[in-house]
Amino acid sequence: MDETLAGRNVVVTGGAGALGEAVVDRLIVAGAICHVPTHRPQGSATPIPDRGGRLKLAHGVDLTDETAVERFYAGLPGLWASVHLAGGFAMAALTQTTRADFLQMIETNAVTTFLCARAAVEAMRRTGQGGRIVNVSARPGLDPRKGAGMAAYTASKAAVAALTVALAEELKGERILVNAIAPSTLDTPANRKAMPDADVSRWLSPQAAAEAILQLISPSNLEISGAVLPLYARA
Ligand SMILES: NC(=O)c1ccc[n+]([C@@H]2O[C@H](COP(=O)([O-])OP(=O)(O)OC[C@H]3O[C@@H](n4cnc5c(N)ncnc54)[C@H](OP(=O)(O)O)[C@@H]3O)[C@@H](O)[C@H]2O)c1
Repeated sequence: MDETLAGRNVVVTGGAGALGEAVVDRLIVAGAICHVPTHRPQGSATPIPDRGGRLKLAHGVDLTDETAVERFYAGLPGLWASVHLAGGFAMAALTQTTRADFLQMIETNAVTTFLCARAAVEAMRRTGQGGRIVNVSARPGLDPRKGAGMAAYTASKAAVAALTVALAEELKGERILVNAIAPSTLDTPANRKAMPDADVSRWLSPQAAAEAILQLISPSNLEISGAVLPLYARA
């Protein structure tokens, strides 16, 4: 049996999303108790499947709302790791992108990550055991030349990458290790629907991304911090 995270409390934001489901499944197999804040109301039409008591859902949490984020993290038992997958994507030419569109990408990707990282650090300080944080950037966040036609998204994911490295430096002395993954296109139902003619064999599997996240939050990761890992599959 995989005991990597036995009994450890891990937050997975966006845990009900396509990548999030794979991550939650993998972390539960590794013994974690996964705490997932979801936008969705209790009794939502698209309920999140139960995973035998190891998935703890908090419904109706908007992660762009500072108070909601603070309340969610304050109610957790001793926190070991926080994985920030909540985010969104928008594709639009520059002149088709409004100020509100730009700010929405910054809110959904960068502000959610910032607020969750801040609250997670406060929760980890309460345990005195250190901890692990993993954010999700994206390939254009590391390589903005891939961001043509999606400048707002690219800027928001570059912000996540920069935040990750800066926080890793800030938290070095506290045994709180902060890293990010930067995936290329993931093989998700939404991407298959949006790009029906694409060669999906070139896409990154959510399970592969989940394995990378598990390694970064594992207690056996003693020193890796400040890395923004490119996960580019064969793209
Ligand atoms: N898909 C790709 O090809 C790809 C590539 C590179 C990077 N990424 C990044 O990887 C992450 C996951 O992608 P995905 O494809 O799994 O996306 P997804 O299926 O759309 O899942 C995103 C999740 O984020 C949550 N979320 C967004 N805004 C939120 C908010 N304000 N408050 C609470 N929850 C919020 C949603 O939660 P609810 O369901 O609760 O509403 C949703 O479950 C995203 O950050 C994305 O940018 C994706």
